[in-house]
Amino acid sequence: ATHKLLLLPGDGIGTEVMAEVKRLIDWLNAQGIAHFETEDGLVGGASYDADKVAITDATMAKAHASDAVIFGAVGGSKWSAVPYEARPEAGLLRLRKDLGLFANLRPAVCYPALADSSSLKREVVEGLDIMIVRELTGGVYFGEPKTITDLGNGQKRAVDTQVYDSYEIDRIARVAFDLARKRGNKVTSMEKHNVMKSGVLWKEVVTEVHAKDYKDVQLEHQLADSGGMNLVKWPKQFDVIVTDNLFGDILSDIAAMLTGSLGMLPSASLGAVDAKTGKRKSMYEPVHGSAPDIAGKGLANPVAMLASFGMALRYSLDMGELADKLDAAIAAVLAKGLRTADIKSEGATVISTSQMGEAVLKE
Ligand code: NAI
Ligand code: MG
Repeated sequence: ATHKLLLLPGDGIGTEVMAEVKRLIDWLNAQGIAHFETEDGLVGGASYDADKVAITDATMAKAHASDAVIFGAVGGSKWSAVPYEARPEAGLLRLRKDLGLFANLRPAVCYPALADSSSLKREVVEGLDIMIVRELTGGVYFGEPKTITDLGNGQKRAVDTQVYDSYEIDRIARVAFDLARKRGNKVTSMEKHNVMKSGVLWKEVVTEVHAKDYKDVQLEHQLADSGGMNLVKWPKQFDVIVTDNLFGDILSDIAAMLTGSLGMLPSASLGAVDAKTGKRKSMYEPVHGSAPDIAGKGLANPVAMLASFGMALRYSLDMGELADKLDAAIAAVLAKGLRTADIKSEGATVISTSQMGEAVLKE
């Protein structure tokens, strides 16, 4: 099958790490292993420089028509004075909103070769492979009312509102259960039903979805605070964790630090399944930003970007075996002691962005 990809490198190291994905795509096409049709587009500051907006309608149309969007990173001080609506991040936010990307997937994988760069002990993280599924378009970040009012007595009051409708919980739960089936077959749902009504509904809906359609998957509930504790105490007890927007934001950043550098962390954002085609909108991007401090120097670690492409292979393009091979190649390169500067350790050979891309491809 032919797969249509939209490549949006963005700014700073976004273009450098995307070049390594292109190298891989070209090789896979040349070998006849896959057939990708790629288009390039501008996003962020690069788009502002060309068109005075953070992403054009034409590029959005290409995003809608693609099987997956592969996104680099946006931002930089060059654009600090552009109008708020056209700031680089606005391109990313529009993509998430217009494509309806409600599920954010953040894997935390600890490559054995990097187990000593974790903030935790080797035995706690070695071989770790968990997936945090964060609800991305609802909850307290978006709920109304959202206000600061002057109470007139020298006091002010801030209000944020946590809102979840059952359909939002239902669809994120399904994403988590579907993922679990392709992994360790276990889902841990985290909320705080002891103090929050949204937690009561969350637990209820997840339990219902499980009973109805996913009895073959193991389901467990944890309160988000003690869940956070368990994540640091013994993270290998988890397979897939599903949680709301706020708890997911915090828990996924904690999980990220179990495994080492920002330059190693991929992510995916998924939308609803189209009833007609059976496909879902999706975007894959590294967790890191445009890293202006190292941009243009060949220092960027392309692994987060390559692993994000690997997630696209697995979750949007039905090429799970190829994704496994890519992950194995990354692990093999690291095991050989080849490192970009951000993950260098004693006795390792420090290589550039493109050398890392080449080394992974060779494996
Ligand atoms: P950052 O993630 O760009 O960089 C943080 C630190 O990690 C820097 O020291 C950087 O050199 C290092 N780093 C990041 N990725 C790396 C990689 N692949 N290899 C080696 N080292 C790496 O975050 P920062 O500095 O806070 O933001 C820089 C710009 O990026 C800002 O304009 C910010 O708004 C934007 N940003 C964009 C994101 C996105 O496009 N999704 C996410 C985060 C920040
Ligand atoms: Mg965060």
